[in-house]
Amino acid sequence: MTGFVVTGTDTDVGKTVFAAGLTALLDGWYWKPVQAGLSDGTDAGRVAALSGLSQERILPEAYRLTTPCSPHRAAEIDEVEVTREHLALPPQRPLVVEGAGGALVPVTPDWLMADLFAEWGLPAIVVARTALGTINHSLMTIEVLRARGVPVHGVAFIGDAVPDSEQTICRIGAVRHLGRLPVLPQLDAKTLRQAFVRAFDKSAFS
Ligand SMILES: Nc1ncnc2c1ncn2[C@@H]1O[C@H](COP(=O)(O)OP(=O)(O)O)[C@@H](O)[C@H]1O
Ligand SMILES: [Mg+2]
Repeated sequence: MTGFVVTGTDTDVGKTVFAAGLTALLDGWYWKPVQAGLSDGTDAGRVAALSGLSQERILPEAYRLTTPCSPHRAAEIDEVEVTREHLALPPQRPLVVEGAGGALVPVTPDWLMADLFAEWGLPAIVVARTALGTINHSLMTIEVLRARGVPVHGVAFIGDAVPDSEQTICRIGAVRHLGRLPVLPQLDAKTLRQAFVRAFDKSAFS
């Protein structure tokens, strides 16, 4: 097992929280290649706090862009050129990589997150809400990943149980249901670790 790319149906679905729990579960390394938006803290900073892992397990971002918007635009604002060479996967394993936004978010004006995932060759985990709208968003995400040759490892759901939506996505998308993390009233490294082992079977990530 070399690692996973954590993508999602949208921004703010819970990718960072899931990635923190997964990196801790695998005793691995976390990498956020492109961080867009710095003033509210960074995903790497949140994973450091929520995973309980030592700081060395949180690899430095390839790009730290000021503005919280699509990376292609954030880079333009900062007058930074984003290159593929600078986005090569770090060698540490197992590696948990968190994408920016969803699968079709542009990294450069003509190169999307899913293109980057395909180049890396890591299997993708789709983080999806259980809330209304998730069937459409999840199935579209699964289709675009596959269309670009990205292996889809499974879907990790976040939120209250909605068995019909979860099963419908996994049946039509022909994808594995990895588990479901509830919304935690108190979120810290301890509560996340406890909830994560209840929600996900470690063997699903081997
Ligand atoms: N399982 C959860 N329980 C409680 N809060 C959560 C959970 N998952 C996500 N959140 C909260 O929702 C917000 C968005 O989550 P985040 O992981 O940053 O999303 P993304 O990385 O997809 O943008 C954050 O404030 C985060 O703390
Ligand atoms: Mg995030």
